[in-house]
Parts: sequence; C-alpha cells; structure tokens
Amino acid sequence: MSVKINKLEIENVKRVRAVKMEPSKDGLTIIGGNNGQGKTSVLDSIAWALGGESFRPSAPGREGSVVPPYLHVVLSNGLVVERKGKNSDLKVTDPSGQKAGQKLLDSFVEKLALNLPKFMEASDAEKAKTLLNIIGVGDQLTELDRKEQELYQERLYTGRTADQKAKFAKEQPYYPDAPKDLISASDLIKEQQEILARNGQRQQWIKEHDQIIDELKQTEAKINSTKEELHRLQALHGELLSKEASSRKTPEELQMESTEELERNLSEIEEINRKVRANLDKDKAEEDALQYKTKYDSLTTEIEAVRKEKTDLLSSADLPLPELSVSDGKLIYKGKEWDCMSGAEKLKVSTAIVRKLNPECGFVLLDKLEQMDLQTLQEFGQWLEAEGLQAIATRVSTGDECSIIIEDGYAVRNDTLRATGEDQGNAAGSAAAPATPAFKPGIF
Ligand SMILES: Nc1ncnc2c1ncn2[C@@H]1O[C@H](COP(=O)(O)OP(=O)(O)OP(=O)(O)O)[C@@H](O)[C@H]1O
Ligand SMILES: [Mg+2]
Repeated sequence: MSVKINKLEIENVKRVRAVKMEPSKDGLTIIGGNNGQGKTSVLDSIAWALGGESFRPSAPGREGSVVPPYLHVVLSNGLVVERKGKNSDLKVTDPSGQKAGQKLLDSFVEKLALNLPKFMEASDAEKAKTLLNIIGVGDQLTELDRKEQELYQERLYTGRTADQKAKFAKEQPYYPDAPKDLISASDLIKEQQEILARNGQRQQWIKEHDQIIDELKQTEAKINSTKEELHRLQALHGELLSKEASSRKTPEELQMESTEELERNLSEIEEINRKVRANLDKDKAEEDALQYKTKYDSLTTEIEAVRKEKTDLLSSADLPLPELSVSDGKLIYKGKEWDCMSGAEKLKVSTAIVRKLNPECGFVLLDKLEQMDLQTLQEFGQWLEAEGLQAIATRVSTGDECSIIIEDGYAVRNDTLRATGEDQGNAAGSAAAPATPAFKPGIF
C-alpha cells in the first residue's frame, strides 16, 4: 500500500502563517488563491518536511514572525513527521512511538514527487531514460539503439559508395561494336604467317606449272623442227602431258586469300583494345555499383528488423500511461514529443512516470495547475483517483475546483477538514484568519 499524506499543519514557513489540511486520499486536492498568497509555500513546506535538508528553503521562517517554523505531517503508514524549534530539527515517530529519521522517509518518499519541475526540466534523453529504466527495458533498448546506429552508419556509407560507383559507371564510355575479349597481336601475326606460308606454297605450284608449260612448248617446237627426235620427243611429250595433268590445280585451289583485313586489324589493334578495356571497366563498375546496392538493401532490411524489435520491446513493456512510449531516445505521448505536448499532457506524463519510480510513494506535489482548464483538471483528477494517487496541487484561482483557498498565508476557505470538522486556526493563525466555512467537499 503506497504512503499518502493524511494530515498537514504548517505554521510560519515562508509565506504561510498557519494552514491545516487533510488532503483527499486519492485524486486532486487543489490549493487555490491569488498570486503571492502562500500556495507554493505550502508545497515547499511539505517537501522540506518529507524530503530532508536538501529541500530546506533558503529562508524558511516567515518574515516578521517571532515564532519559528512548525511542520507537522501525519502519514497514512502512521508515521508522524515534525519540524519545530529554533533549528527546525526533524522528528519522525512511528506508530509504536519509536523514533525514526530521514532514512526511513527516504525509503518511500520519491524526491521527484516532491519536485516535479526537476523531472519536467530534465533533457528529453534523461526523461526517456527514466521511463525506460522503470519499465525495465533501458539496457536492451540502449543496445538496440546502438545496433541501429551502427547499421545506419554502415548503410549510409554503403549508399554513398553505391551512388558514387553508379555515377562512375555511367560516365564510362561504351563501344557496342567492339569485341568482348582483348585481341592478341601475336595470334593475328601467326595466322597471317600461316596464310603467307600457304600462299607461298601456291606460288610454288604456279611457278612449277609455268615451268612445265614452258618446257612443253619448247618440246613441241622441237617436235616440229626435229623430226628425228620425234619418237623420243613424242614419248617425252606423252610423259609431260600426264605430268601436267597430275600437277594441275582447280581455280578455287589457286584462289589467293586476302590478308587485307588482318593487316587492317593489326593497324587498328590499339584502338580496338582501348575500347575493349573501356567496356570491361564499365562492366566492372556496374557490377560494383550493383553489389553496393544489394548490400544497401540488405542493411535496410536489418535496420527495419532492429526497429521492429524495439517497437515490440516497448509494446510488450508495462508502461505507466497508455500511449506513452519512447522513440529515438525521446518520450512520445499520443504521438508527440515533449516540446509538442500541452502543459496538461506534460504534467500527466511526468506524474505517471514519477509515480512508477517509487510505487510506495502515494503522493505527488504539483505547482501551478492553472494551465489546466476545468475539464482537463477533472479528467486529470479522475485519472489520479483511478491510479490511487494523491496529488496536492496549487492553482491561481478562487473557484469551486479548489479544496482550500489561501490568502495572506491563511486558509480562508478549507473544505479539506471534513472528518474532524476542526477549523484551521491555531495559536499563530486563528486570530487573523476569517471563519472557516462549513464542510464542503471539493468537486473532485
Ligand atoms: N520567508 C518569507 N516570509 C515572508 N514572505 C515570504 C517569505 N519567502 C517568500 N515570501 C513571499 O511570499 C510570496 C510568494 O509566496 P508563494 O510563492 O507561496 O505564493 P503563491 O501563492 O504560490 O504565488 P503565485 O501564485 O505567484 O505562485 C512572495 O511575495 C515572497 O516575497
Ligand atoms: Mg506559486
């Protein structure tokens, strides 16, 4: 069961002359009044009583009072907390009458519940960290954030490189008519030499054939001129005729092959190879760019997976308020970051988080609730009640929403003293305080 404030008596602390209160167990108890009348002084007094020396005001005693400050707080766990005397020393008494001290108070009093502005003024990152730590996913989320950052940086670098490579590939010239592979000059020369060798053979054939024909002609001439040698020559003639027939080649066989193209290729080889190399470079650049693009896409998938893991982690966590979460190390409520939340939303978020920080602390002090309109105030009061949380708040107002009105350090209207029906007067304040109205329950 969380600890609440049952009763409160303050005398001569800062602007307060004398105020007694019995705040509602759950929900809002609003201390109203005009500016400078002592509302915040009441909250400062509670913080000093329960929070210890670090909450001591710089000038705690009321100016003009010869009587030192007096604080008396009765808590729902039976502890009685007092500060009185010249040095305002702390006295904590448990229900059995045993003395206790600040250490016991610290075990259930959440410091931020006494000083909500401290939480509200913290950086976005600190607020989010507080929330993540109370829901127990701080470490895991930090690790996921680190992982996401790392992947993001890697993807950023990969993306830039992919763009550069693609740009480089695009700028490279391309020759669609160039061969796929580099041409070798020695192959061409070898081929040329082979053709020249074959052609040499052909030349030889032609030469041989021409010689035979010459010889035949001479022989025929001799046949005519040398009758005596006719027979011999006829025999020779026959022989030569058959020789001629066997050495005769077809016109196709004698068709000369051209080395013209090869010669042209040889002369163009440097230019062609330059183009081939350019094409190979372009292909390589395109392949590089594609590889980086593929890696970029796979990093995107990984980043999305980490982000989903983070969302899953948060959606399965026990958050103090529906629609309250953390994204990119910042609090998000109803889809908005802290600087875009309304004042009322900020108060609700802060209260919910501080409430979770120490569930034993059943109360929270809220200064300056005038930023909430009556409708929002009522909804906030209902939410506090549903949470079983006691909030003691101040508001520049003298309307019906206030449970107690402070004027010149006194409670001039006090609807909180319902159980006892006591008026709020005491030695220091009753003489100057106007009569306390009859019991009137606060509207919240
Ligand atoms: N020790 C003190 N003795 C007497 N008056 C003090 C003391 N300390 C502060 N004051 C005065 O109290 C007034 C502020 O009191 P407090 O902050 O409680 O008022 P408030 O009702 O909360 O005002 P606001 O609506 O402006 O917030 C100031 O005028 C300040 O000068
Ligand atoms: Mg104030």
